[in-house]
Amino acid sequence: MSNRLEGRVAIVTGGAQGIGGATARRLAEDGASVLIVDLAEELAAENVRRIEAEGGIASLFVGDVTKSETAIGMVAAAGDRYGRLDILVQNAFPVGEGSFGGGVTDIDFESWRGALSVLLDAVFLGAKYAVPAMQASGPAPGFDPAPYAEYGLHEGPPPPMEVGRIVNMSSIHGLLQAAGVPAYDAGKAAVIGLTKQMAIDYGPTGITVNAIAPGHIITEKLQKLWEQMSNPAGYRLFELQYPVRRTGLPQDVANGVAFLCSPEASFITGVVLPIDGGHSIQLVENAVVEMKDYIQQNPDLKTHFDEWGAKQCRL
Ligand SMILES: NC(=O)c1ccc[n+]([C@@H]2O[C@H](COP(=O)([O-])OP(=O)(O)OC[C@H]3O[C@@H](n4cnc5c(N)ncnc54)[C@H](O)[C@@H]3O)[C@@H](O)[C@H]2O)c1
Repeated sequence: MSNRLEGRVAIVTGGAQGIGGATARRLAEDGASVLIVDLAEELAAENVRRIEAEGGIASLFVGDVTKSETAIGMVAAAGDRYGRLDILVQNAFPVGEGSFGGGVTDIDFESWRGALSVLLDAVFLGAKYAVPAMQASGPAPGFDPAPYAEYGLHEGPPPPMEVGRIVNMSSIHGLLQAAGVPAYDAGKAAVIGLTKQMAIDYGPTGITVNAIAPGHIITEKLQKLWEQMSNPAGYRLFELQYPVRRTGLPQDVANGVAFLCSPEASFITGVVLPIDGGHSIQLVENAVVEMKDYIQQNPDLKTHFDEWGAKQCRL
């Protein structure tokens, strides 16, 4: 791809598969040394082998991102193995596991707390220990401050730059709320709030903090889910919801993460980048009416949402 991340060191949580897996591969293609942090040891090891086979540098750290010891350990491992830390991508989440569906009156407090520990606490913990390591590492290797000195009325060297990049994985659920998933939606919205807040706190030290809001991304797990549904008409309904008339791929999101971690994005912080084929820009009432004929023509369509009990409109 490029060598724009040459010499930089990245941690990707949930980097064994799915969006995190593609992100780990993409950052490695751009020249970063990548530490994959995941609970799924076998899959993470497989992704490390895949990166190495393509000439990249990667290794594995097995841990649960909801634990302080994982955050401390992964940052220490990045330093021990690669000598510094430049990039933290906070992406881990147990999609398809956990029982936190239902309204707030349906889910129990433990499920709510369990979901928020991965969605939000882990993002807090990762940043808590990564930021000091980024600050201690200083500007990324090869960074040339010269173009940023002496412009406008600015005199002297620029403020700290290229010290670190944090990218937090939110979702279109962080921007738009859906029925029956209060923990996921509140957690993903909170990730956006924390991202913007940290962008203000650590911008002066040369660290940018951004969030990504993916739409429906066909990961390995979601590919299996759709294959189990075996209902092309249901899948087409998903595609039709997107102005670009397709759902996303993990590499669509990985490309956005790599851009936000690149030198080209040094003046971008505190933003939420939707990578959703335009899904979240639509007015729902028009989009629904636009799909009315298709739904009437395909009365047997099914999606995985049917299995989760979210198909019924509460009249
Ligand atoms: N796939 C989508 O359509 C989609 C859409 C919007 C947002 N997202 C977000 O993108 C991120 C990745 O989603 P995905 O679909 O690629 O997921 P995935 O299930 O394919 O991969 C997630 C990875 O995170 C790991 N993980 C889960 N809990 C962990 C923990 N406590 N500690 C360490 N590792 C843990 C899993 O082992 C897995 O390898 C999530 O934050 C998800 O909410 C996904």
